[in-house]
Amino acid sequence: MSVLNIRGRQKLEGFLSVQGSKNGALPLMAAALLHEGTTILHNIPHILDVHFMIQILEALGCICTFEGGTLAIDASVLQGAQLPREQVGRMRSSIFLIGPLLGRCQEAVTYQPGGCSIGERPIDLHLWGLRQMNVDITEEEGTICLSTGGLTGKEMTLAFPSVGATENILMAAVKANGTTVIKNAAREPEIVQLCLCLNRMGAKIQGIGSKTLRIDGVTALHDSEWTNQGDRIAAATYLAAVAACGGEAVLHGIEASQLYSVLSVLSLSGCEVFCGTSSVCIRSLEPLRRVPYIRTSPFPGFPTDMQSPILALFSVVPGETVIEETIFENRFQVVGELGKMGAQIETDGTRARICGVRMLHGACVRARDLRGGAALVVAGLAAHGTTRIEDCSHIQRGYEDLEKRLVRLGADIRLEEETQTQSANRA
Ligand code: EPZ
Repeated sequence: MSVLNIRGRQKLEGFLSVQGSKNGALPLMAAALLHEGTTILHNIPHILDVHFMIQILEALGCICTFEGGTLAIDASVLQGAQLPREQVGRMRSSIFLIGPLLGRCQEAVTYQPGGCSIGERPIDLHLWGLRQMNVDITEEEGTICLSTGGLTGKEMTLAFPSVGATENILMAAVKANGTTVIKNAAREPEIVQLCLCLNRMGAKIQGIGSKTLRIDGVTALHDSEWTNQGDRIAAATYLAAVAACGGEAVLHGIEASQLYSVLSVLSLSGCEVFCGTSSVCIRSLEPLRRVPYIRTSPFPGFPTDMQSPILALFSVVPGETVIEETIFENRFQVVGELGKMGAQIETDGTRARICGVRMLHGACVRARDLRGGAALVVAGLAAHGTTRIEDCSHIQRGYEDLEKRLVRLGADIRLEEETQTQSANRA
């Protein structure tokens, strides 16, 4: 088990290069399946979820080479369309591989991905959209079999702007017969990037960045290269850490326009924020002010993935802040762990009411999900004393070299890879 040890109250100052986007990279990797050739992706982060996705692509027959931040995916020959059960169970986002598999092979077999700690996370919108496109779907004892005599373009309106469902339907539509129109589509930057990359591969997608995507099906794509965008959530997490600890930092490799909702909250709290062409600078030199109410919502609203790290930040800002989570039904798990550090937070369903304290204290806590783990890092950096964060593999799923980047900013943080024996002895 991996453990992070943090000695808090260090000011954070310096320069940081933002990793490639996790939620950008994963759909780009899935899209490579649509093309009987090679897709080269740059600025891909070395994180667990990318490695899990590579395992799935290789199980399908792809040849993947991943050096530095460049991932080459040769999908010329596929061995089938059945996703490996073990990896599907470990990574819910494997669900958006079924769209490209249907576009490529007219069939796919996967498994109910099951809920995860932040919510039940059903896939009904994914399956509903694919059924509109002439896909037969049977579900038996957790196995989902999908097949089509030919994907048919269709106009449809999503009941909710689901990111994954938009990505799945969009990728299936690239190779469908005729035109597909997706209304109430998700507009996250990761969707925009996926559309732009697919068009570079030879797809015909219009309405990029809007709520209505129009996809004219094509029969073939071609070899292409794409550079993945910076990770807006990782960047926002580092900004929250600097805000919580005090200091000044410049983050390179991030589009400020993807972060405006977070930057406005940080500015409201009293941080100074400066935006460059592909950089953001934050200065937090004065005591912060509370922000009365923050509500998560689909892009361009405040991102649900930043809800936990911001919860940690306002735990150390005197006054009351209320955070409303509107996307996932169980995304306040970190509250109990923050409580061990002295945070005063009450939750009732979708709302967390934070009564900010002057100082948190170090404690032994456990990461239970990716962004909750990141929140514990923010809290540990701001706390007085030493914090031990266990089960950091959750954090390693989405943050590349988190501790190395924070050390460069002046944090006192160490990653400890515990052997099984050490873990057992400590238990
Ligand atoms: C993507 O998940 C991200 N993951 C999530 O990031 C992110 O929190 C989420 O979008 C929202 O922005 C990746 O991109 C790999 P959704 P996704 O479909 O696609 C419900 C992280 O921390 N829903 O937009 O699964 C669902 O239960 C991760 O990096 C249905 O009801 O999100 C949720 O309540 C966590 N039926 C809401 O919609 C469906 O068929 C939003 O889900 C699909 C979704």
